[in-house]
Amino acid sequence: YEKDVLDVISKTSKTKEAIEKEKKQAAEYAAAQVPNHIVLGLGSGSTAAYFVKAINERIKKEGLDIQCVATSVGTEKLAESLGMPMLDVNTIDRVDLTVDGADAVDDKLNGIKGGGAALLFEKLVATMSDKNIWIVDSTKYHKTLAGQKLPVEVIPFGGMGVFRYLNEAGYKPEFRFRDDGDILQTDSGNYLIDITIPDDADLAKLAHNLKNYTGVVEHGLFLNICDQLIIGGDKVRVIDRP
Ligand code: 5RP
Repeated sequence: YEKDVLDVISKTSKTKEAIEKEKKQAAEYAAAQVPNHIVLGLGSGSTAAYFVKAINERIKKEGLDIQCVATSVGTEKLAESLGMPMLDVNTIDRVDLTVDGADAVDDKLNGIKGGGAALLFEKLVATMSDKNIWIVDSTKYHKTLAGQKLPVEVIPFGGMGVFRYLNEAGYKPEFRFRDDGDILQTDSGNYLIDITIPDDADLAKLAHNLKNYTGVVEHGLFLNICDQLIIGGDKVRVIDRP
């Protein structure tokens, strides 16, 4: 088989347990690299949660002087429940390092975030950060982002107009719903519309067009933001942005 085909086979045959193990491996590897005396952005999602727990252990055991900023209400709650030292994002103007998960990442380290609906706060903290490290399991790493789902956060007022625009433009939009059937609202009370990235998409152009459409608050394309990708595995892979 071609290498790409083998990659697909190995990704689709991974069990849920194997994927969880890789998430934890990536998170623990990242936590071990965090330097002392920094302001640290805490990402959102299940992989980021492994990281939060691992860095909390180091802070407590080693008595580290690390102040944290959360990227979602969920992460804030987790960090507070662990008694971590938290800062209000409005009281700082920069973050030294943010460690976050991702939904899909390509070989240029461009990626998609927002599977956990936290893309707006995540992008805010990421753009304030001197360095962004993403931690993922191996199923998230792709040659291209074409065909992947991309969340677009819209204000409820006029969200239907954005949906129509995305539909007419051929992006196959779908509003995101919660498991109980209600429409999902983000931490800012907005709606999410998931679109599909076309095969021939120019990512920079797509990001620009989405951002400039009235009613769109943010989108989950994170271009030129991730500085280092850590992929879990028995041998952890570390890839720096080219
Ligand atoms: C939340 C995110 C998450 O980082 C992303 O969805 C990955 O989540 P998980 O680690 O649970 O797979 O962007 O908005």
